[in-house]
Amino acid sequence: MSSLVVAANRGPFSLVEDAAGQLVAKPAGGGLAPSLASALVADEHDVVWVASAMSPGERRAAASGAIDTQEKGLALRFVDLAPETYSAAYDVVANATLWFCYHGLFDTPRRPVFDARWREAWEQFRAYNLAFADRICEEADDAARVLVNDYHLPLVGKLLAERRPDLSTVHFTHTPFPSPGELNILPRDTRRELLEGMAGFGACGFHTRRWEHAFREAAAASVGEVPATFVKGLGADWGRLDEVARSPECAERLEALNERVGDRRLIVRSDRVELSKNLLRGFLAFDALLADHPELRGRTCLVARAYASREGLAEYLAYRSEAEHLVDVLNEKWSAACGGEPPILLDVDDDFPSTVAALRRYDVLLVNPIRDGMNLVAKEGPALNERGGLLVLSEEAGAYEGLSDVALGVQPFDVADTAAALARALDMPADERRRRSEELKRRCLAEPPAAWLAAVLAEARLPTRRPTR
Ligand code: F6P
Repeated sequence: MSSLVVAANRGPFSLVEDAAGQLVAKPAGGGLAPSLASALVADEHDVVWVASAMSPGERRAAASGAIDTQEKGLALRFVDLAPETYSAAYDVVANATLWFCYHGLFDTPRRPVFDARWREAWEQFRAYNLAFADRICEEADDAARVLVNDYHLPLVGKLLAERRPDLSTVHFTHTPFPSPGELNILPRDTRRELLEGMAGFGACGFHTRRWEHAFREAAAASVGEVPATFVKGLGADWGRLDEVARSPECAERLEALNERVGDRRLIVRSDRVELSKNLLRGFLAFDALLADHPELRGRTCLVARAYASREGLAEYLAYRSEAEHLVDVLNEKWSAACGGEPPILLDVDDDFPSTVAALRRYDVLLVNPIRDGMNLVAKEGPALNERGGLLVLSEEAGAYEGLSDVALGVQPFDVADTAAALARALDMPADERRRRSEELKRRCLAEPPAAWLAAVLAEARLPTRRPTR
């Protein structure tokens, strides 16, 4: 039992089997889990983290009862569902429906289709949320605080309010929240269920005022009442970044990168292969940059770090092939004009020291998501960068709200606008460049994860909405 329970679909580390069949802890992918975990460890909370058993190793740990995994002061407890239930909840509802809706990714003439199969998946999504609520109730001490994260677990608020009205609860959405019009894509009853579930939390938090406002409007329209809401941005986790930046692995990766890049100017991007990250238009913008600026050919290259994600979904596999194909086409097109060197270097390995090396080394960082809750790369890059690098940033990223006057903002669908911003960044006079990069660094280091966590936990409160069964 614990006085603080954190719940998120993904755990702070994943358990994988080593060659001898022993389970070993590996850092989890994605931005949320490592940042939140380091904040919890730093604050030495007595905390239980409830997560899905996602890998075969985690399923083994959960099934054998060896779920008392304790790593760096965090006790990890698994919710272990039948693979079909988990896949319906995670792949079909959370990733292929809610993620697409929240990031404006639907190709509406074709998708979504809410048919009987999808309705069954929604049933499984309910079962998944219920399993999390039950597990939280088992782990939470009397009057404990509970922090629930993200779009995977919206229904948990109402379920906890019904079962354990003694708990102070808070939900935090790390993604955007869609406008009421966009949320209306969901079937009426599921939309209402989702918003009622969230209204069951003591408070709901968002990274920016825009997402908070969208949620308040949707809740008022659909449920008729709005829970307490708040906004708290998240910055770079300097402790974790600095440790990696100082490591011999990172020094080795930086040396290799310097050799590859030579004396060319370096544009970097670093993302999961994720539809909302807008990789294709980023490559097209680089194409337009070389077309519009012959003087940059052979003198500028783009390093794109793009590591695989959600490969259980056909859309993600197709997107990855499209991105790889486009890079091949553009390299073929430009290599000769660039002195025989392919100007785009695509790295698909998920190796954090390599990412940190690229962020230390860039002249321009390109972060152009279609829409993003915050985007931690836009904060981590300026925090780490050692070359007075500039940031070209989508106006649709949550991070833009606090960086609009120091980053070069771009409309993410406008490839010509993005190419022009890259050219402007590469050409910026040294003193203006220095002013911007210093200010970027200062702002990106504000709001470290520990301060974010303390502020979010201070918002945990008893739910105000009376449970209705
Ligand atoms: O970036 C938003 C986010 O929801 C994070 O909170 C989370 O780490 C990630 O996306 C989820 O991705 P995945 O499906 O790989 O766990």
